[in-house]
Amino acid sequence: MSGGDTSRRRALRLLLGGALAARVRPVRASPAALPDSADVLVAELADVPPGAVKTASFHGMPILVLNVGGKIEVLSAVCTHESCTVTWDAEKQLLVCPCHSGVFDRLGRVVGGPPPAPLIQLPVKVEGGKIFVVD
Ligand code: FES
Repeated sequence: MSGGDTSRRRALRLLLGGALAARVRPVRASPAALPDSADVLVAELADVPPGAVKTASFHGMPILVLNVGGKIEVLSAVCTHESCTVTWDAEKQLLVCPCHSGVFDRLGRVVGGPPPAPLIQLPVKVEGGKIFVVD
């Protein structure tokens, strides 16, 4: 595991208020035979064609599922300024925060306004036409 994965997971756990850290995984008789219970289905790949942005949720947190040039990205939609929910502005091709005019690009990087940090990027897996956030 890379350092980036570790810090991303730490940030995700903080964002979710420790809910993930407290979750108990079931005992498995055969791990290879069962799906990973930590993976959370967030969207169907067919619903996020290239260039599209879809809203969804992950453990109750608003998220954005984006297809950036054929690559699926999942971002927290919680603004890093004061936690308002950002939305996709299709005309501007940017993510915008309605509270204090924060602006982020498709990769969650701050491009305007007061947000002090990029949107949190969640680890993602695409399998069998489905998009999962991976714990
Ligand atoms: S909460 Fe998003 S810019 Fe302030």
